[in-house]
Amino acid sequence: MASPDTITIRRPDDWHLHFRDGETMRAVVPHTARQFARAIVMPNLSPPVTTTSMAAAYRDRIVAAVPAGVAFTPLMTAYLTDDTDPDDLAQGFESGVLTAAKLYPAGATTNSASGVTDIRKIDRVLERMAEIGMPLCVHGEVTSADIDIFDREAVFIERVLAPLIERMPELRVIFEHITTRQAVDFVDSAGENVAATITPQHLHINRNAILVGGIRPHMYCLPVAKREEHRLGLRKAATSGSAKYFLGTDSAPHHRHAKESDCGCAGIFNAPFALESYLTVFEEEGAIDRFEAFASLNGPGFYRLPVNEDEVTLERADIPVPYEVDGGDARVVPFHAGERLGWRLRA
Ligand code: NCD
Ligand code: ZN
Ligand code: ZN
Repeated sequence: MASPDTITIRRPDDWHLHFRDGETMRAVVPHTARQFARAIVMPNLSPPVTTTSMAAAYRDRIVAAVPAGVAFTPLMTAYLTDDTDPDDLAQGFESGVLTAAKLYPAGATTNSASGVTDIRKIDRVLERMAEIGMPLCVHGEVTSADIDIFDREAVFIERVLAPLIERMPELRVIFEHITTRQAVDFVDSAGENVAATITPQHLHINRNAILVGGIRPHMYCLPVAKREEHRLGLRKAATSGSAKYFLGTDSAPHHRHAKESDCGCAGIFNAPFALESYLTVFEEEGAIDRFEAFASLNGPGFYRLPVNEDEVTLERADIPVPYEVDGGDARVVPFHAGERLGWRLRA
């Protein structure tokens, strides 16, 4: 069957996103609001968004940055620490300010220094979340110096995630930005309370993109891209039709100078062409008919939220991706910079 020249789907949501704050936030919000109705906004600001009142204030700053006439709803998360107050979290969830809470193992990624040092320290918080049905978003990497960076996700499954779900079988967990076949196998074999987000970059690149022919800081994010066999496993999972996988860009803007540095930041800024990037993968995999489930249905299903009522249309077009875009205080290099994409979201 010939591929269509346009595809219309329910408006999608982004289930994992970094907006930052201040001028950077104001520069990047329009890219996401152009495509998505809602996004799960990550709380790893500096200082992190750890309480319900901080999340409410951050939500208001985001809403003020949405362009006039555009309907976009940020869904807020709280950053878990060793000292998180379960009552504050529960109150935030029950009042609708918080949609989920985020577990960063301390030291795992950008702005995670205040994260959780040992998962057992937050058992009371997690038990409460399980009780009230509040989803837990997880950055799934161990941080021990003796574990190779390419093995940190797989080891996290064994040491932290599998035992956690064993201890708390009711807890609803989103294994964020998965990068390995081990993660796919784990999610596939877990119960319905476990799901995963997959980023565009982990569907497009393997680790060669970071290291072959010169070091490419704009291809570096965490968890770091793995071997080709893992990329192929992720593509299969995303396009499989399984309701456990959904769209989460992990768009993570860092200014150009912060990436091109002797200690460059982890994070890929994919917001400007996120939908176009994902659709390219679904087309290559012969799975355009499964794109809507991944982008627009599976996420709301897992989060127990209504699906969006309006639609978006993508059409074939030859789109050059700019080498850099406005990032507020400085420029940011987008994912696919300098490449051409074959789809365009109709305005
Ligand atoms: C994210 C960031 O920059 O905030 N970076 C990344 O490489 N993914 C943090 C995260 O999601 O781990
Ligand atoms: Zn992360
Ligand atoms: Zn992230």
